Amino acid sequence: MPTLISDLDLPTVTTDLSLSEAERREQLHQLAQDHWIAKVELGYVITTHDDCAAMLRDRKWFSALSLIAQTQNYESEEWSSRPQRPSILSTEGDDHQRIRRIVSPAFTPKSADRLRPFMRSVVNDLLDPICEVGRSEFVADVCEPYPIPIICELLGAPREDWELFSRLAVDIFKIFNGNLAEDAPAIIAASNEMDAYMLDLIAERRSAPRDDLLSDLISAEQEGDRLSTDELLSMANALLLAGTDTTRNQLACAIALFAQHPEQFELMRSNRDLTSQAVEEVMRYLGAVRGTGRYASEEIIYRDLIFPQGTLIFPNFVAANHDAQKFEEPLAFDITREGGTPHLTFGSGIHYCLGAFLARAELQEAFSVIADRLPNLRLDGTVIWKPLQNGIWGPERLPIAFDSGY
Ligand code: HEM
Repeated sequence: MPTLISDLDLPTVTTDLSLSEAERREQLHQLAQDHWIAKVELGYVITTHDDCAAMLRDRKWFSALSLIAQTQNYESEEWSSRPQRPSILSTEGDDHQRIRRIVSPAFTPKSADRLRPFMRSVVNDLLDPICEVGRSEFVADVCEPYPIPIICELLGAPREDWELFSRLAVDIFKIFNGNLAEDAPAIIAASNEMDAYMLDLIAERRSAPRDDLLSDLISAEQEGDRLSTDELLSMANALLLAGTDTTRNQLACAIALFAQHPEQFELMRSNRDLTSQAVEEVMRYLGAVRGTGRYASEEIIYRDLIFPQGTLIFPNFVAANHDAQKFEEPLAFDITREGGTPHLTFGSGIHYCLGAFLARAELQEAFSVIADRLPNLRLDGTVIWKPLQNGIWGPERLPIAFDSGY
């Protein structure tokens, strides 16, 4: 007889925001050893790799993105009257499958590889000024700007709009910071600005298609089915959002880690075949996306437990990526790890990151150029981390030093 989840005597986990990043990792690693599920304020946290993956693959669990205001008890006229467009990130079932099928052909390894020379030139341009001086606040100098030209290039937005995109992405991404009461006006203003911009760009490409993703998405067709203007707008926004803050934080996490583990950086420098593995290990050990949320679209029975309709769960990627059942010595950062690193930082199931090939290529190219040009990489002050409750997370400030002139 299955048991109702609320009848189970589970421990309650709170996020102690005073913990350091390393203390939090240890805490979550321990939690995954002791309990595959625990209570949190709004529902249940899922801690083990296998359970996170299994629940994310079960289509009855829907993305909780659409409930973000509700989970923060936030309500306002301005917020509820925003245009409600179906986004790939939050639609489910046939609607999701349809959008995903139309856009997937644009996100193959081949299309990511096409951008590799451009990625290298963007990193090199960003490194030129700091390599002269041998030190940098790496978040502002390199990580923040890096993904924007790439998304613009991919979408087909002109170079002169890089800064606009960067600013709008920062504001729109505040939606994941758990503080809508304060951030909603900035999020709404940035979203409106982005919509107006994208509508113009869509109209331009409709009348004169080019060799870019937006033109591809406009003409993309599966068995006579095309994306509507609203869907195109929503897709372009989703890509800009999902593809910028994630990548910039992941790169900053990586460089902080390499500066703290110089022997691992040297290993990669001396053996470039390790670059792809280094990307995977960085994403396992210090992933920029620390978890996600789902709700039960109907009553769900899992592991002989009944989850009533509406139950919220939070698959925790940090816990899953340090699950001792899945990884040997999970608390060690080791880019030569054997057996691969099947981390969950790109998620799992139908919402698995659409841009995973692109993100991997961006990180691999950045690692490779950085390995060439920042020898003797080290910390040059204290790393300041974003608050642990941020959905997309990494260093706020990353002061580094290295040998100049390369
Ligand atoms: C290191 C960088 C990145 C990380 C860590 C990351 C992580 C993730 C995660 C965890 C999800 C699933 C969210 C969930 O299940 O609730 C996701 C979805 C998604 N990502 Fe990424 N992402 C990255 C880069 C990118 C890039 C570069 C793009 C595209 C340009 C992109 C586009 C998307 C899209 C469109 C989705 C939604 C897919 C769907 O719902 O079907 N991501 N990403």
